[in-house]
Formats: sequence, C-alpha cells, structure tokens
Amino acid sequence: MSVKSAALAALASAYELNGLEAGPCVVRSARPEFGDLQCNDVMRLAKSAEKNPRLLAAEVAEAARSALFEDVSVAGPGFVNFRLADAVVAAEATAMLADPSLAAEKADPMRTVIDFGGPNVAKALHVGHLRSFVIGESLRRILVEIGHDVLSDIHLGDWGLQMGKLLLGAALAAGWKAGDLTSFIDPLAFEAMTVEELGALYMSGNAACEDEALLALARILTTKLQDGDPLLTAAWARMRAISLASISDTAEMLDAHFDLLQGESDAHAEVAPMLDDLMARGLARQSEGALIIDVSADGLPDNVPPLLLRKSDGAALYGTTDLATLRQRVREIGARQIVYCTDDRQALHISSVFSAARKAGYAEGVELRHATFGTVRGNDGRPFKTRDGFAASLREMIDLALTKSSEKVADSQAATVVGLGALKFADLSTPRKTGYVFDIDKMISSEGRTGPYLQYAYARICSILDKAEEAGITPAADTVSISHPSERAVLIECLWYPHSLSEAARHLEPFEIADRAYQVADAFSRFYTDCPVLKAEDPSGRLATCKLVARVIGKCLELLGIGTVRRM
Ligand code: ARG
Repeated sequence: MSVKSAALAALASAYELNGLEAGPCVVRSARPEFGDLQCNDVMRLAKSAEKNPRLLAAEVAEAARSALFEDVSVAGPGFVNFRLADAVVAAEATAMLADPSLAAEKADPMRTVIDFGGPNVAKALHVGHLRSFVIGESLRRILVEIGHDVLSDIHLGDWGLQMGKLLLGAALAAGWKAGDLTSFIDPLAFEAMTVEELGALYMSGNAACEDEALLALARILTTKLQDGDPLLTAAWARMRAISLASISDTAEMLDAHFDLLQGESDAHAEVAPMLDDLMARGLARQSEGALIIDVSADGLPDNVPPLLLRKSDGAALYGTTDLATLRQRVREIGARQIVYCTDDRQALHISSVFSAARKAGYAEGVELRHATFGTVRGNDGRPFKTRDGFAASLREMIDLALTKSSEKVADSQAATVVGLGALKFADLSTPRKTGYVFDIDKMISSEGRTGPYLQYAYARICSILDKAEEAGITPAADTVSISHPSERAVLIECLWYPHSLSEAARHLEPFEIADRAYQVADAFSRFYTDCPVLKAEDPSGRLATCKLVARVIGKCLELLGIGTVRRM
C-alpha cells in the first residue's frame, strides 16, 4: 500500500456508495494543514450528477472514513481532505525501511534500450553532452530500479559526413593540394595521435568545407568509407578508437554506464536490406535522385519534410542509420521500449524516425520514447559558451566544478564527489525540458537546492547513525514512531518516494527524484532542529526515522548518479 493507494481505495468505495461512476482521483494536498492527500474531483462529479458539491463531498468524506485516516474532511467548495493516522504513517515508514527497494512499485519488466550521450568521433564533448550523459544515466538507473531490463547504448556519431570532413582534414594535414586524396591518408599516421590532434584535423576539414569543391570531396570520402574502401576504413577505425577511448574516459568520470558502445556505423550492414525492404513494400520512394520515406505522426507538423534515406550520391544519412539501428534494436536485441535522450533541437528528427519506423512496421508493440532536454544558458540567458564563443567544453566544465569543490572540501576524493554532484544535481533539479543557467558558485553552494546540500545532509545523518553505534545505542528493531509534528512531516516526505519513482519513470523525468531528495532533506533539517535524536529519552524511534531518511536520500542520489560520502 502506498500513501496514495489508501486514499484511492477509500474513495473508490465512497464513490460507489454515492453512485459516482468515475475512477477516484487523489493528489498530494497542496495545503498540509488540511491533510496529506486531497481529492479535487467531487466538484466536477457533482455538476454532472446535478448535486450540491459540498453536500456530495460531505457524503463522500463520510463514506471514505476508516481507521487509516485520522480525519477525512471537506474544505472550500468541495475538496475532500485526508489526514493519515499517525499509526499508519509510522507503520508504512517502518515497512519501507525494511524493504530493500523502499516500497518501489515495479513495472512490468520490459527489455529497454536507452540511447544517450551520442557523441561524435573527433568532435570535442561540450555542454550539450553533459546533459545527455547526466540525464541519460539517471534515466537508465530509474528504469532499472523499477524493474526493466535495460541496455544503454552510446550511439556514437561515426558514419556521416563528419567522417568525410575528418578524412579530408587528415589529407590536408598530410599536404594534399590536388589529385588523389586517398594516397595522402596513411592509417599508420594516426597510430599515436591524441584526441586533441584528431579534433584539430576535424576542425580544419570542416573549415575547408566552406569551399563547395572541397565539400564535394568530403562527400566522396564519406561514400567511399561507407562502401568499405580498405584504406579509409583502416584510418577511420583508428580515429574512431582514439575518440572512443577519450569519450569513455569522460563517461567513466561522470559515472555514465554504457552496456553497448555501438555507433551509427554498426547499423551499416542493416541499411541495404532495410532500404530494399522499404522499396519492395512501396514505402520508400525516389525523389530527385534521393530515396525518401514520407512521415507523419501526432505531434509532427503537417508539412513535415520526408525522412531522407539515401542521397543521390548513395550515402546513408543520419536518419538512415537511426532507422536501421532502431530496427536492429528491435530484431536483434528484442527491445520492447527504446528511449532516446537528446536535446530538443532533435525533436523533429527523432519523431520522423519514430514515424518511419511505425509506418514500416519496425516498431510493432514497441514503445518509442524521446526524452528531450533544453539548453544550458549563460548568465546572459544565451546558450552557455566559453569566452571565445565556442560551446563550453565538457572537460572544462568538469574541471571548473572540481576546482571549485576542492576549494571547499579538503579531502580530494570527497572533493571529486562533491564537484561532480554539484554539476549533476544542477542539471537534474529542474524539469529536463526547461534548461537552466550555468552558475558554478550557486551549484557548489552547500545551501539551497544543490548537490552539496544533499550530500552534506546525507553525511550528517550518517554521522548521527555512526555516533549512535559508537554510543552502543543499537535498537533491536527499526521501528518508526511519531514523536513530533516535524518527525511526521519528514516521514510523509519519505513515503512519497515510491510515487516519485513511478512518476520519474512514467515521464522520464529525473527531476521527480531530485525534488524528492530535496524535500526529504529539507524536512529532515526541521526535524533535526526540533527533535534531539541521541539525547532523546528513547532514541530508537528517531534513529529509525534517521535511517529511513538516509536510505531515501541515498537512494535518490544513487538514482541521479550522484555519489555520497559518509564523512565530509
Ligand atoms: N550524434 C548526434 C549528434 O551529435 C546525436 C545522437 C543522438 N542519438 C540518436 N540516436 N540520434 O547530433
């Protein structure tokens, strides 16, 4: 039973008694002084039943009364408020503490693929990747927590025109001026190359493509690579490996876990048969030398352009590899749910891919979900950039956070945990679509809605628990009781955890978890001010409350991918 289901069950029978056919509906009460839960539905129901809303609400409240509630009352024009009995709150909290999953409601397990990160070979990771790594990793953890069988995949950008540009950059650096380009590309030249050097090659190749003639060459290189040219493939494989090693380092630093390190190129073998299939079934068609598939879907504008599958020069595109990858994920991995985590500028692209997949029958019975996110802004409200006007590099952002945290936290291991926690919590503590302002001093502060605030709260509770143990206060059982309104309040915050987890999974929204952690920590600080724990006459109940709070905050931080330290 969750806090909510108690009220829902009571309401269901109360509705039935009053001849109301709607499904019951309760929300958390916005005004705790009126109760823990609230039903706002009776006014609407009274209207269709042509009854007086207050009278109907009073009857519903009367019928809903039970030992679970200390009070069921009517407020305003017909709100029904439920106040849980203290004994119920304490019993629920005790049960939650004994449950390794903290009373999480498990979903029907589904094989799930989550696609996040999406970095590109030879391009520096930037602020946008921070969000995809951080949000994606948290979503991965949340989906695992509710019981799905999750595989994460980084979907490396290693196959499109940017590869042709990179190869062009390499040829230019080797002194190519005219004539056969490929003879200037020596796979051995990349053996000892650093990722920075690789980045420089890409930048010069990209800059060179301002020139139409050179852009045409980059396109030819791309097609040749996709057609399996051995020399280009050898050079590409080396560059891909260098890039991936560096990306994996950063991912590891951020604690982002990938089960699969696949790239767009891994869909290549699937592309030709897929296009044959689409053509054979009349789904794809030729248009001005290119192959396209018309897309349409809810949420897509009427005049949405078709998804381009093959260019007139034969090259596969971003949409092609995405569609082929999706098909592989369903056919080879058995995905029943695929989650994509990218910034909101890719919304049209991803919806088009989804639409094409549905149309082609590649996603029969598969849930396709796109978790988009908004932009990180600078203080000027514009997309966060470094002083030279480039998108801020991810490594620089991480370094900045670590430098700041080491000014505050002496222990270097703890400083790393705090710095990264600050960065991640700032990213996850607003709804993902909103975006946020990058303000390192605010993020690192130990006050307010920040990672360090929560990490300190966690460490403080752990130290209370440690002190209790040192003092030999080790209650035989962890039984929660309610000794003070502040204790009740923090327990209620804890009891909402399973609901927050379900909501986070349902809406792909780590913010639900970040907010839960903050609400619990905030209520804990009031409890801790009001209620001595170790000096209490019988500390066992309050210690159990502390344990539950530590478990909930610890679990939330874990789901956010944020580390904790027991001492700070
Ligand atoms: N590499 C892409 C980019 O930088 C992002 C990949 C997102 N994932 C996907 N399956 N399309 O724009």
